[in-house]
Amino acid sequence: MSAPREHWGSRLGFIMAAAGSAVGLGNIWKFPYMTGENGGGAFLIIYLGCIAVFGLSLVLAELLIGRSAQRNPVAAFRHVAGRGWPAVGAMGIVTAFVILSFYVVVAGWTIAYMLFSVNGSLSNPDADALNAVFDHLTAGTWEPIAYAALFTALTAGVVIGGVGQGIERASKILMPLLFLILIALVVRALTLPGAAAGLEFFLIPDFSKVTGATFTAAIGQAFFSLSLGMGAMLTYGSYMPRERNLPTDALAVVSLDTLIAVLAGLMVIPAMFAAGMTPGEGGAGTTFKVLPAVFDAMPGGMWFALGFFLLLAVAALTSSVSLLETVVCYFVDEHAVSRRKATAYSAVAVFALSLPAALSFGLMADTKLFGMTFFALMDYLSSSITLPLGGLLTALCVGWVMGPRAIDALSNQGRIHAPWAPVWLFILRFVAPLGIGWILLQGLFS
Ligand code: TRP
Repeated sequence: MSAPREHWGSRLGFIMAAAGSAVGLGNIWKFPYMTGENGGGAFLIIYLGCIAVFGLSLVLAELLIGRSAQRNPVAAFRHVAGRGWPAVGAMGIVTAFVILSFYVVVAGWTIAYMLFSVNGSLSNPDADALNAVFDHLTAGTWEPIAYAALFTALTAGVVIGGVGQGIERASKILMPLLFLILIALVVRALTLPGAAAGLEFFLIPDFSKVTGATFTAAIGQAFFSLSLGMGAMLTYGSYMPRERNLPTDALAVVSLDTLIAVLAGLMVIPAMFAAGMTPGEGGAGTTFKVLPAVFDAMPGGMWFALGFFLLLAVAALTSSVSLLETVVCYFVDEHAVSRRKATAYSAVAVFALSLPAALSFGLMADTKLFGMTFFALMDYLSSSITLPLGGLLTALCVGWVMGPRAIDALSNQGRIHAPWAPVWLFILRFVAPLGIGWILLQGLFS
């Protein structure tokens, strides 16, 4: 083996970095509009169910594989399960590129909105004007590409810096800041005239709107939000020292991520109703179209806007870093490339893939494959297919191949009291494979 593996500097450092991976555009950009499109309260409940049943067990499973193997996803699956299983790791590496292709585009919009918040573009709180700002930006050619490229370069910069230096230090300071600004925005959004109807839509479930598609959307969103199913959590687990208490750390990460998503829902959905928008109408632009009206209704709104989009960009950065880190970690470990080279080549590949995604709202808006733009297709392929599939295979690997060995590793050879561990194993063996399998199949054939 090569040099000793780098490890997280502290327990808080790990939790902040893993929560930094989990909390990102998935929570603040995607969760609110997915909830809007899928019926509100009923989606929220199904989403929370997916997190509690599949999410928590699988975060634990991924962290466990990573920590046991102390290796990248491909080598880790080989180490704990043997032949054939490295394919699961490989699928994760490909998925990371698929996600990054559209992730950097949305993160790029966030950077553009930082500028908009200071140059006066958002100062007209009229809904039509705000929609036009978004549509104009995203339908452009060079602007979305340039912002996506800038964001890709930032991600590569942090990844080159290495684990402790770059990722951990930034996350520790900025995550709590994001939390505070979110609270302020929730309070303002909830007190806007007309917000109550949004609160009702978000919290009171109407199960008559639930279809098979609601389940597919909820599970995809749960996996996406928890950074699950492609080896990102596994990679972060591989930087964990062996004596750490995995269950408490996993619970902390899952709770933080879910809390932030719910807060984002409480911020965006009432604001959406206050702005007179019907749920589902705003699509991928919802958060960007709705929030400026909230800022406008606050004293010093410009500063809130700037702070919010800055912190959203940073939250997106800590997530994109975890995606790129997974890829880089694989190339460095398995193919003996330098970190610098692996990062540079991967970033160029991400840039190339981000081009059609960046143009999906303009030049290539009518270029459709399976009825979807490139942007929507990449989102669909990852959230609705490869992430749940990766999660299903991870559950089988830990539940059946590792089996009792997994409980032994989870409890640090019995030093941690974990009387619920058999329940966890039961979920991984039966509940997760059957549940996720059913949702995947009915998503594909409905
Ligand atoms: N979870 C992040 C978000 O919510 C995105 C993300 C980072 C991700 N790493 C991942 C999604 C790995 C899936 C897999 O924005």
